[in-house]
Amino acid sequence: MKAANMNQGRGVIERFRDFLPPCETVVSLGEGNTPLVYSPRLSERIGRGCEVFVKNEGVNPTGSFKDRGMTVAVSRAIDRGARALICASTGNTSASAAAYAARAGIPCAVVLPAGKIATGKLVQAIAHGARIVPIDGTFDDALRMVRELGAEKDFVIVNSINPDRIAGQKTAAFEIVEELGDAPSFHLLPVGNAGNITAYWAGYQEFWQRSKSTRLPAMLGFQAAGAAPIFHNRVIENPETIASAIRIGNPAGWKQARAALDESNGAIDIVTDEEILATQGWLAQTEGIFIEPASAASIAGFFKCAEQVGAGRLVQISDGSQIVCTVTGHGLKDPDSILRRIDSLESVPAEIDKVRRAIGF
Ligand code: F0G
Repeated sequence: MKAANMNQGRGVIERFRDFLPPCETVVSLGEGNTPLVYSPRLSERIGRGCEVFVKNEGVNPTGSFKDRGMTVAVSRAIDRGARALICASTGNTSASAAAYAARAGIPCAVVLPAGKIATGKLVQAIAHGARIVPIDGTFDDALRMVRELGAEKDFVIVNSINPDRIAGQKTAAFEIVEELGDAPSFHLLPVGNAGNITAYWAGYQEFWQRSKSTRLPAMLGFQAAGAAPIFHNRVIENPETIASAIRIGNPAGWKQARAALDESNGAIDIVTDEEILATQGWLAQTEGIFIEPASAASIAGFFKCAEQVGAGRLVQISDGSQIVCTVTGHGLKDPDSILRRIDSLESVPAEIDKVRRAIGF
């Protein structure tokens, strides 16, 4: 039996072909079509009739938003006769590139800052058979090497400096407009290498230009306090944050992100590691959505907006606004800060009274 909707399970290329660069080959794992979840508690937090939605990108095939861009980048790399893929990564890009390379049947090399990649992501890259090269340096060093290696023939770079990645990632904005019936008033997201904020802004603009929406959102980006080059307007030589995915001191998409922020009347702000971890726990325990620390930056930023501090002071959130926060990656990717709590679990004898007492409520 044929699927009722011919685009079902065929990913973002088949769904949004008219808005994407041409792809002859389609290398897809069924990415996109992620839930836009209404959050009653976040809506309550800001009040005044505002509606807050969480775009949960952690449920993409490899557990992050990178898959939207990777399907386009890898499909077009195959069209061009690429023999191998290469990327630098803080983890998620490498997991996604490794999976799509496996699907395409070509090798993939990933260059990573040694000792700085969250367990789940490294496990993925290994499982999918990527060639992994840890370096004694930062993500920014790794990307510099990848740019050089990519200039040599046969390697296609699948970082977000590849415009096909940005094109694919635009599709998240398309989905939001389609689902809400218009663009939201505000869009909040974490910022690392600054590809995703660039992509969302491009997507919103494109749908607006094609009259699929009547407005454009203000883009609000959030960096980790110890890795906030755009916020401070200077390169950070040794970025540091618990949110390893956005531990980046010199983002490749800096200029484009700045343009997105300025053109959309948006703002960039910072959130501390404490705020990130507290928000990650809050979202898991009150809304049932488990995200990685980097992803919590958007929600931690939302709290600042709701309380009218930081970026919240810079933007006027009017009554009845629709607000979308993107959460970028699944919590299982980066379990390290929570794993420690497993040690505090103590077993009890398999006796009903002891179990009842241990439950305690
Ligand atoms: N959230 C997660 C979970 C990420 O993995 C990244 C980037 C970002 C946010 C920031 O997005 O770079 O487009 O501004 N991760 C890249 C990587 C750098 O290598 O996986 P961005």
